[in-house]
Parts: sequence; C-alpha cells; structure tokens
Amino acid sequence: MKIFIDTANVKEIEEASTWGIVDGVTTNPSLIAKEGKKLIDVIKKITSLIDGPISAEVSEGKANDMVNEAFKYARLHQNIVIKLPFTIEGLKACKILTSFKIKTNVTLVFSLPQAVLAAKAGATYVSPFLGRLDDLEKTDDSGYKLVKSIHEAFKEYGFTTQIISASIRHVKHVEQSILAGSDVATIPFKVLKDSYYHLLTEKGLQIFAEASKK
Ligand code: G3P
Repeated sequence: MKIFIDTANVKEIEEASTWGIVDGVTTNPSLIAKEGKKLIDVIKKITSLIDGPISAEVSEGKANDMVNEAFKYARLHQNIVIKLPFTIEGLKACKILTSFKIKTNVTLVFSLPQAVLAAKAGATYVSPFLGRLDDLEKTDDSGYKLVKSIHEAFKEYGFTTQIISASIRHVKHVEQSILAGSDVATIPFKVLKDSYYHLLTEKGLQIFAEASKK
C-alpha cells in the first residue's frame, strides 16, 4: 500500500519526507490557495522534495482547456499526475491525456459507477472521498463501503486503475482505507502524524524507559 500526503504546505512535506514512508503528494485548488502561492511554484518545490507521484489539479472546465492546462503541469516533472474532476469534460480530458501517456487522477468521486467510468476513461488513479461522503450520509463507514466496492469491482473486471482513498479526516479513515483494499491513502499531515500514536505504545515506552534506567 502506498501513502501519499494530502497537502500543499512545503514545511509539512519537508518534515514528513524525513519519515521514510511518504510515496507521493496530492494537492487540490483549496490546498494550493491556502499557501497563497502560484500552483506551478508550489508543485515545482514539491517535486524536489518527494520522488513519487505529485498530483496537480486543473481548474479549467472544458476538456480541451483542461488538456492544455495539463500539458503545462506535466512538463514540469516526470512525476506529475494530472488531477481531473469527475465530469463528462473531465473524463474526455482523461482519455486524451492517457493517449499521451500522461498519468491522471480522477477526483471528487463519490459512487461506484463514477469510479468505473473513470477507470473506463483510462484513469491512472481514482480518488473516492471518504470524509465528505460520511459527512453527507451522516455515517462513519459510507466511505469505507465505497472504497471496498470499488476495490472488488476493479478486481472483478480487471481494471488497473489504482484507488486513492482521499478526504481522510482521522486515523479510523486510514484503517478503513487499508481494510477496504485501497492502493493508496492520501493523508493530511496531522492525520499522518496521529497514525503513529497509540496510548499503549506511549505507556509501553515509558515502562521500557524506566526499566532501562535500572
Ligand atoms: O485533496 C483531495 C481530498 O483529500 C480533499 O479532502 O474533504 O479534506 O477537502 P477534503
């Protein structure tokens, strides 16, 4: 399973990159806007920090405009993955970019049919959003059930599209992504840090530290 960090904050990526477990980075327009910098400048910096897939999301609405915008990002680095919204235009752009061997990540996916259509459009990755789905359906496992169903459908039909569990709000979503068979979990910095913590680990460390002093 691969772990991506879901942030455009360079300091968070710099720190997490030293932990040795980050395989890639996903950004989105909200995360880029939070940094108050140009997307191209942020993405360029990120490609120098993590040697893995780096998702940059297009903001255009029409397929041809998305493709032209995507070419601008793709030429920045070989690791760039173009994030496309799940729309008819987005999937048309996905098909075109795939024919140019440009990797794609179809995002804002909330149903199994959407995931299968993205796979049929040749998406390299598809990003089902666990947190936002749980929020909408007022449950704590709608996202889990979606990822599990996508994993089973992709296996059944032989789709090679990889699943990136996204919109991860807490460690439980990380656990659900693992159990659902997600290829990747893209995790915000704070949740990634929280994933290291367990009360009994802390308590055990204290006991061992005391013992080693004797
Ligand atoms: O970056 C895509 C996704 O992880 C964003 O999730 O719901 O926290 O904005 P959210």
